[in-house]
Amino acid sequence: MAKLFSPITFKNMTIKNRIVMSPMCMYSCDKEDGKVTPFHFTHYVSRAVGQVGLIIFEATAVERAGRISAQDLGIWDDEHIEGLKKLVDEIHQYNTKVGIQLAHAGRKAEDEPIIYSPSPLAFNENYKEPTELEEAGINNIIQAFKEAAERAAKAGFDMVEIHAAHGYLINQFLSPLTNKRDDSYGGNRENRFRLLENIVEQVKTVFTGPIFVRISAEEYHKDGNTLEDFIFFATRLKQLDIALIDCSSGGVVPAKINTFPGYQVKRCEIIKHEVEIPTGAVGIITSGPQAEEILQNDRADIVLIGRSLLRNPYWAKEAADQLKYPLDAPTQYRRGWR
Ligand code: FNR
Repeated sequence: MAKLFSPITFKNMTIKNRIVMSPMCMYSCDKEDGKVTPFHFTHYVSRAVGQVGLIIFEATAVERAGRISAQDLGIWDDEHIEGLKKLVDEIHQYNTKVGIQLAHAGRKAEDEPIIYSPSPLAFNENYKEPTELEEAGINNIIQAFKEAAERAAKAGFDMVEIHAAHGYLINQFLSPLTNKRDDSYGGNRENRFRLLENIVEQVKTVFTGPIFVRISAEEYHKDGNTLEDFIFFATRLKQLDIALIDCSSGGVVPAKINTFPGYQVKRCEIIKHEVEIPTGAVGIITSGPQAEEILQNDRADIVLIGRSLLRNPYWAKEAADQLKYPLDAPTQYRRGWR
């Protein structure tokens, strides 16, 4: 029995297999209003037809100033709920679960006149210098995540993922490379964790489904967070009842990253066993056998597939064929699936 095609339950959400579509920005809101377009329907629904177990929508901005680009999806206004709900309902027709990645770009917002960060340090010479957030600004952002999660619940999402990776705002608070504050949000790792903690606590008050957190579990810099720091953060997230840690890496400061198949799996595996929390592996996982190895060896509980699912919406079928697993067809494709 292929573990890749066995169901798994997180809180009140059971997904039919372990294949998760990794959140990927599509830069496709045509009026810069953050609203769902026909492209998003084609893009996400085709992966549901392709039997992905869980689709996590791209980084979706919890406030306008938190967009990575002006074309990002948004969930900062009640006006966003209707389009998202229609799309969620359509995906559910294919027995695929659906989540949304809640994000704030912080100093990595590309198209905003004023950008925010824990400390006034630009990412590199191509980015503006951010404004240091004051406590009132931090409180507004925590509130924005809460309201976004409330809208996600109204739109019918099964889960939410908090984007604390890739050098976006929450990651900027977590990392000593970008957080030079000397108040209760900076300094030691407990303080650097405070923004994420406060966001999780607020999101939990309005969203009853499972909450995943994506982290960059390696910063590729000698003065960055260490493995021990990530184990500390993951332990705290477990105490906060987070359902899964999605283990990515990088993006907090410019760095050269040596990538290879499964290059982020090692830390995912360590965090899973040290902290005893479910984890998701991501990064150049491209075949059924490779995904199966990760799951059977208990290195992760799910695999998140990014670019392979861009190249092939039917990646799940390809992986099933490689593993000789008789994957059910969507009803419409029954006559031509095998
Ligand atoms: C991404 N990635 C990404 N990650 C994330 O957490 N939120 C996002 O919105 C995006 N956006 C995005 C857009 C595009 C076009 C790509 C290719 C990637 C990273 C993605 O989720 C995944 O972690 C990486 O692509 C590594 O997995 P693969 O592609 O090697 O399977």
